[in-house]
Amino acid sequence: MVRTVVAGFVGLSLAAALPLVGQSDAPGGPVPVDLLQARRAALLQTMPKGVLVINASRVRSIDGEYPQDSDYRENNDFFYLTGIESPNGALVAIQPDSGSAGGQVLLYLTAPPPRRDAWSAARTSADSGGRALTGFREIGVRPAVRRAPGAAPGSAPVDSMVVIVDSIAAAHGLSRVPSRTVMGMLRLVKDSDELRRLRRASVISAEAHREAMKQSRAGMWEYEVEALVEYTFRRHGAERVGYPSIVGSGINSTILHYDLSRRQTEPGDVMLVDAAAEWGYFTADLTRTYPMSGRFTPRQRSIYDLVLGTQQAAIDATKPGITIAEIQTIARAWMKDHSGDLCAPGDCTRYFIHGLSHWVGMDVHDVGPYFTPLKAGMTFTIEPGIYIPGEALGVRIEDVILVTPTGAENLTKDAPRTAADIEALMAEGRRARR
Ligand code: GLY
Ligand code: MN
Ligand code: MN
Repeated sequence: MVRTVVAGFVGLSLAAALPLVGQSDAPGGPVPVDLLQARRAALLQTMPKGVLVINASRVRSIDGEYPQDSDYRENNDFFYLTGIESPNGALVAIQPDSGSAGGQVLLYLTAPPPRRDAWSAARTSADSGGRALTGFREIGVRPAVRRAPGAAPGSAPVDSMVVIVDSIAAAHGLSRVPSRTVMGMLRLVKDSDELRRLRRASVISAEAHREAMKQSRAGMWEYEVEALVEYTFRRHGAERVGYPSIVGSGINSTILHYDLSRRQTEPGDVMLVDAAAEWGYFTADLTRTYPMSGRFTPRQRSIYDLVLGTQQAAIDATKPGITIAEIQTIARAWMKDHSGDLCAPGDCTRYFIHGLSHWVGMDVHDVGPYFTPLKAGMTFTIEPGIYIPGEALGVRIEDVILVTPTGAENLTKDAPRTAADIEALMAEGRRARR
């Protein structure tokens, strides 16, 4: 019975005037269609036998869901495979046998509102525009949520996409398969458009850190520094922050994910800023630590240089074939061997209380398995830190690293990294304001 009723909307009907918001009108621009098609082909090659569904995001309500911290943002996997932002869309991949050439990928999008919507942002594109943006020759219309056929009055509505997918799975004799592992594998090596976006997010983020260093003065509030950083992101077209900005001075520099930005800075404080822009669905992850007075104290400088040396040892070790776990071992050994009596008794690794690295891309902690040996095109952070609460001294240095065929490229290198370069930029900022 269900099958007969759904049959009418299982087939793909061409959608006219679909409510698409491609990135074509965003600073990032559209994703090239040949890359989208290659990603979908890789999906079919990688996924196991079955039906895999990726749902787009839904529009959040301003009543109680607090969307003001982030406007409509597409689901990463949906954007990765379609290049569009389309609330309530769904992508369905059908693979009759793992690795077979007989698989197909379908796209369903909701129908446009019947008349101009005076309340919501205009959704660009339409009919052929949608096909041009995504590279799908046909796009199915996702019917509105409706009651199950024959359901009792008052019973819960059924999700039309669930009905469609169940019907597709039954028609092919296939089961649903989860998407997370498959998408993690696919997204691990970045293609040229992903790297274009990540590079831009990294450049914007570095510029924001430079701006903060130039303008910081003891006595400023943490939220003022946060405002400088986030203003710079938006001024360069970044859609949003990649994660809640961490702007911690003094004792707050020792709190790893401090996100309150409520303290007034004092002379002698270090300031730890871990903040990055998301641009075109890719986020950097960037941390710099600097002295609010413009000059590190000798003690701060010693700890800073130890963290910097540890990071450089990790960057130098990066190349295809090595694993993140091996790089972490190298980094911790370097810190241990170069601690001297800075953290006596014992070495400074006891104050290095978090992991060295994580993948970075569409998510700040991006998807993908961690046991994988590195390959060119993978992107991850290298972020050693030392946190000594008794001295109100936290130092972290974090950059986005691209694995190249022969080693590593630091995508966030435009933010000064050595103590001397940081002090020089802060001095330049002070001179400019005189
Ligand atoms: N910004 C969060 C992290 O570094 O992992
Ligand atoms: Mn990080
Ligand atoms: Mn970070």
